[in-house]
Amino acid sequence: MLFDVAPKDERTSLFGRDKELEKLLQSFGSKAPLILLLGMRRVGKTSLLKVALKEWGQPYLYLDLRALADGGFSKVVFYRLLSDELTRVQSSWDRLRFFLQKVRGVQVAGISVELDWRRNGMTISSLFRKIDEWLESEGKNMAVAFDEAQLLRDMRGGKGRIDFRKFLAFAYDNLRHVKFVLTGSEVGLLMDFIGAEDPSSPLYGRYREEIVLQKFDRETSLEFLRRGFREHGFEPSPDVLEKVVDVLDGVVGWLTYYGYTAVYEKKFDENILEKVVDQAKRVTENELSKVFQRSRYYKHVLRAVGMGYGEWAAIKRAAEAWSGVPISNAHLTRLLHGLEKLSIIEKKDGKYVFTDPIVAKIVGP
Ligand SMILES: Nc1ncnc2c1ncn2[C@@H]1O[C@H](COP(=O)(O)OP(=O)(O)O)[C@@H](O)[C@H]1O
Ligand SMILES: [Mg+2]
Repeated sequence: MLFDVAPKDERTSLFGRDKELEKLLQSFGSKAPLILLLGMRRVGKTSLLKVALKEWGQPYLYLDLRALADGGFSKVVFYRLLSDELTRVQSSWDRLRFFLQKVRGVQVAGISVELDWRRNGMTISSLFRKIDEWLESEGKNMAVAFDEAQLLRDMRGGKGRIDFRKFLAFAYDNLRHVKFVLTGSEVGLLMDFIGAEDPSSPLYGRYREEIVLQKFDRETSLEFLRRGFREHGFEPSPDVLEKVVDVLDGVVGWLTYYGYTAVYEKKFDENILEKVVDQAKRVTENELSKVFQRSRYYKHVLRAVGMGYGEWAAIKRAAEAWSGVPISNAHLTRLLHGLEKLSIIEKKDGKYVFTDPIVAKIVGP
């Protein structure tokens, strides 16, 4: 069902991403050990990833790192995610247990795999070395997916933490059969984390595949809605659908949410669209509040973009007027880059615009 709001994991319910799916599956089969799947929030990264992992037919681990943020970025939470996934994989690949048992700090009891995260317990490098040996012996490859991997940066260094850049560099050099897939909604932050542009990063200059998911174009968005409604025996008028796409653009997550709500309420009028937008605003406001905690100037910059001041100088004038203090050129550049890295704004034809129409509704006039 296209309007199912959970991330999709079946090819039949993944709409309009044939090319991207093909490309991702090809990357799984290629030599590149590192694959990046990038795009703004709710554009469909997790869905594409889950469908691809399933279609691939090889063993995989999927870790949703948002659980890390909820758990204060502790090693314990990470190991919990990892042991749950190993437990799942082991249930269909039973020879894996013989390899895992040889790793210090790993206990395999019945069907469950437990990792000892204390000092002197397991290290993830030794664990993955064994997994790689197992894969070699099976003639298989494994994909390890870190969903929202920019969050790994908050686990760097310090006691009880893991330096993932080092680990990924280790994997890059030593593991022949393991591929890492990193998704990121905050694209610039993920690139910073892996150190794509930073010569001091252990991952600098390593070859990687990149897939960038874009919003649906207008026709795809309309067809998505038509098909989704048809699955439920509805056929809203073209005007209604045009209006929905005017407001929600090609953000498949919002379109799905609209479809779900309209089907549930069996109504397609403007009230439903308004209700969906209100809910979307609440969700997005909550996400933005975390951004505003980093700098109070972000609000002014976003408001300026919301007023249609897309150009640098106009943004500067407006933000200075609202904040009541001068903002240096360097500072404004930092603020704009910051918002770009979070995938909140992007540059289009030399002007800054919002990636998500809901943000425009929140900060706009
Ligand atoms: N290609 C697609 N076809 C149908 N529904 C999709 C598609 N991509 C995403 N969705 C839906 O959109 C919402 C957001 O998708 P998700 O994969 O979680 O996005 P992301 O991981 O980029 O934030 C979910 O409700 C999901 O079911
Ligand atoms: Mg996701």
